[in-house]
Amino acid sequence: MNLGLFDELPATPQAPEWLESGAVVLRGFALAQAAQLLQAVEAVAARAPFRHLVTPGGKRMSVAMTNCGPLGWISDRSGYRYGPTDPLTGERWPPMPEVFHALAREAAGAAGYPGFAPDACLINRYSPGTRLSLHQDRDEGNYDHPIVSVSLGIPAVFLWGGAQRTDKARRVGLLHGDVVVWGGPARLRFHGVLPLAEAAHALTGAQRINLTFRRARQEPGPVSSAGGAA
Ligand code: SIN
Ligand code: FE2
Repeated sequence: MNLGLFDELPATPQAPEWLESGAVVLRGFALAQAAQLLQAVEAVAARAPFRHLVTPGGKRMSVAMTNCGPLGWISDRSGYRYGPTDPLTGERWPPMPEVFHALAREAAGAAGYPGFAPDACLINRYSPGTRLSLHQDRDEGNYDHPIVSVSLGIPAVFLWGGAQRTDKARRVGLLHGDVVVWGGPARLRFHGVLPLAEAAHALTGAQRINLTFRRARQEPGPVSSAGGAA
């Protein structure tokens, strides 16, 4: 049998696939919760709608984004940052559903990062043609905590690069239910997503939803208007 990049894999736990020290793909890790996660995404988006953010350079991002949790990631003409409120509505970001929290904690634990307690979940929505150029996740208060990234819906090719933008990036096919965790020595790796191919998934139609869980606040303790969110 010739397994192509995107052929569905069995719905049983797979052996972790290490990309390098500190970074791992957990195939199918979120499959059991996928429908519940997608329902929760809809509920979040009803309060904090998906929108196309503008980069500091003035480019409209092709990925549509929203957030849940105490802090949300935003980009506009004045830069990239985390903040407690949705600039579209002026309201706090919707709370992070417990099913999100539990999954992020379990996936981080399975990757060797026990006790992960994310305070931000960026939700990315891709359609065929949508891409995410190579970048580092470096707007968080510190880099002691991993990033947990959950793929739902249609397939994507994830780019796993190096410490420099120009380092050769490896292509990793990501399917519905796959989770990628990176931290420790791999925390600041460049990564991105190639333009999505036309496809359809039973639960999302022609869309891919990605959840990325982060720990964004600088200090332990409650988020205050002064903490990591200015
Ligand atoms: C991200 O880097 O924020 C998203 C990665 C992905 O969509 O898989
Ligand atoms: Fe990222």
